[in-house]
Amino acid sequence: MKSLSVSADSLEMITPSDKEINLLSNLDPAYVAVLEMTKSEREFVTALICRYKPRKLLELGVSAGGSSVLMMSAANKTNEGEEYPARLYAIDYAEKYYRNIKLSVGYIVDQYPELKPHYHIYSGGMAYRFLDLIGEDIDFCLIDTAHVNPGEILDFLMVLPYLKENAVVVLHDVGMHTSMSSKSFARRDLNHTTALLFSAICGKVLLPAFFSKTENNEMYFANVGAIVIDKTTREHLFGAFNLLTIRWSYKPSSREESEICEFFQRHYDQLFADFTARIFAYHNHYFTEARRRTPLVRKILRKALPLWAKTILARIYDRLLQ
Ligand SMILES: C[S@@+](CC[C@H](N)C(=O)[O-])C[C@H]1O[C@@H](n2cnc3c(N)ncnc32)[C@H](O)[C@@H]1O
Repeated sequence: MKSLSVSADSLEMITPSDKEINLLSNLDPAYVAVLEMTKSEREFVTALICRYKPRKLLELGVSAGGSSVLMMSAANKTNEGEEYPARLYAIDYAEKYYRNIKLSVGYIVDQYPELKPHYHIYSGGMAYRFLDLIGEDIDFCLIDTAHVNPGEILDFLMVLPYLKENAVVVLHDVGMHTSMSSKSFARRDLNHTTALLFSAICGKVLLPAFFSKTENNEMYFANVGAIVIDKTTREHLFGAFNLLTIRWSYKPSSREESEICEFFQRHYDQLFADFTARIFAYHNHYFTEARRRTPLVRKILRKALPLWAKTILARIYDRLLQ
């Protein structure tokens, strides 16, 4: 036997069965058009719901609501016959769907009236604002939010105190930093947040056994994965907190900062609460300093140029560096 073998308790490759793949075949497919997951990713999430049979589900990052419909339908199908239906609590930082601001986040769920009574959506803030309303004992959580720092790292640390032992946390876009698609290539050094988090959390890892490289935006690695939360997850948190020291792409507002620090103070050891406060102080200093050191012409261009022009300039800059 090899001295460093992988135990089935630490890593499991998931192959969805035909029954799991076909579980939602009777569901109106309108949700698939707005769902931001590939076919194999949808099958992976469905297979996990079939196997773990969660009753209280949480979703961070709702967008149109495609993944809400998928998770709720799978959970209710797989728990058929239970006295109470499974419930999904969904949270989005935005109030409007980012691809069409005339629509609200989660709007597609309205097209599935049978799901509505078991769906609770909270929008306009980060998870910490709503978790006390949702309560503990969450047994399944999908995190699919910012994909840049501090994004999912903060999100996970907010959710962890509300998770049940053996809860499954699914992380989407764990391979985004390896995408060779032209859209993601220029941002590859920023889109590693979920991969970093996935590597830092202790617990059993679940990965899809198969995925299609082309279907997955030219990625060499699976773009979805999950962790089963156990005692070791809660005992080994330095790694996740330490990730927060890595350069941030955006900074929560000062009100959010003080609310997050207060929330962590409430849920984590004083050592981690102090660490969080120092991390915010560091990034505040860093952002001020970075602004001060940015040449005036770049500041003006950044404000004046439309997004498409910034993208073209970023691509030219990228080419020059190669
Ligand atoms: C990639 S989309 C989610 C896609 C959706 N899960 C699906 O598969 O169809 C990301 C969403 O996360 C939201 N978001 C970004 N940061 C967030 C945060 N920290 N907490 C909650 N939502 C966040 C955005 O507003 C956006 O709607």
